Amino acid sequence: MIVGCVKEIMNNEFRVGIVPDHVQMYVGAGHRFLIENDAGIAAGYTNEEYQQAGAEIFEDASSIWNQSEMIIKVKEPLPSEFDYLRKGLIIFTFFHLAANRRLTEVLLEKEVTAVAYETITDEEGRLPILKPMSEIAGRLSIQEGAKYLEKQYGGSGVLLSGVSGVTRGKVLVLGCGVVGQNAIRTAIGFGAQVVVMDKNGSRLEAMDLMYRNNVQTVFMTEGALRRELTNTDVVVGSILVPGENTPKVLRREHLKLLRPGSVIVDVAVDQGGCAETSRPTTHDNPIYIEEGIIHYCVSNMPGCVPFTSTNSLVNATMFHGLHIAGSGIEAAVLFDSHLAQGINCYKGHVTHQGLAHSLEMEYVNPISLMK
Ligand SMILES: NC(=O)c1ccc[n+]([C@@H]2O[C@H](COP(=O)([O-])OP(=O)(O)OC[C@H]3O[C@@H](n4cnc5c(N)ncnc54)[C@H](O)[C@@H]3O)[C@@H](O)[C@H]2O)c1
Repeated sequence: MIVGCVKEIMNNEFRVGIVPDHVQMYVGAGHRFLIENDAGIAAGYTNEEYQQAGAEIFEDASSIWNQSEMIIKVKEPLPSEFDYLRKGLIIFTFFHLAANRRLTEVLLEKEVTAVAYETITDEEGRLPILKPMSEIAGRLSIQEGAKYLEKQYGGSGVLLSGVSGVTRGKVLVLGCGVVGQNAIRTAIGFGAQVVVMDKNGSRLEAMDLMYRNNVQTVFMTEGALRRELTNTDVVVGSILVPGENTPKVLRREHLKLLRPGSVIVDVAVDQGGCAETSRPTTHDNPIYIEEGIIHYCVSNMPGCVPFTSTNSLVNATMFHGLHIAGSGIEAAVLFDSHLAQGINCYKGHVTHQGLAHSLEMEYVNPISLMK
């Protein structure tokens, strides 16, 4: 197969979809690997390293888009890339389509095979490619929340760790999955008071056993959420219903319960966000203020730590990418039901149930479309 990797063009997105060691594995398996000039430079990988691994370097993205049978990247195609999309092209990347009807329609119209990192599952029903990015975003969420509490950004002026004689700041984590657990761990490290809410009792129990008195676990109800919000300094939004638009548990009226200058870090913004007032922002312009509350809603948080995030991402994508290149998408999907969960659009149909539900489109089982 001819496999390609283009430079990311999203604002301040410094990750890259492949590292030289993995290019070597594709080339060793008999595939051609095309990569755009300087695609990996910000993540620490030079053109020479890719060339030594067997990649062919191209000055322009268009040659790669046009020649490749599969494109491996990090973030979803942006409008300036839509003209490159064509029937049968496989794109293996993060898509987050439930929050992006326009891109979904383009993928369907052009009959692209969209294999979404974020909906591929494993034996335990977890999301193994989303996981490393969620670990990073969860850890970053506290770093960013603490920063924007500072007065010069419009924050309340609270230091999360407090100081002797003055109470600590409080972090409220909504959603106790991978992002939430990593936010908890980092917030405890910062010395904050930490509360986590979820609808899943066993996840709360695990946090209770692991961190004992360092974390307060609270089952998610409307009443409990209102009580917890009243003295919170940083809210971390880390709720997910896979493939679907994020439930809007934080409504505008809830913001009035927070102290002005508190911060919402809505990590879940890539799937629509768990606050009604959230809208995606960029690393260039990461925050805005609504109802006196700072909203940090960067949808590609790990993009700012490209060395760490590229390496952890590619470790998770490598096996599936090589499998698709080696067997073709149909055989790979028929063999691996977890990879099949990643097929969001195929032959002009929505082929993921959660996505179809969120966008109110018809769901078609991808296997039924395969010869
Ligand atoms: N902004 C970014 O750069 C970035 C990076 C990585 C991940 N994310 C996003 O962060 C979000 C969370 O990812 P994750 O890997 O932690 O997911 P996860 O599946 O591990 O965890 C989600 C948690 O939400 C809980 N939940 C679901 N509905 C709930 C509700 N109504 N109330 C309370 N809890 C509820 C689930 O029980 C689960 O514990 C996703 O949208 C993901 O795409 C964003």
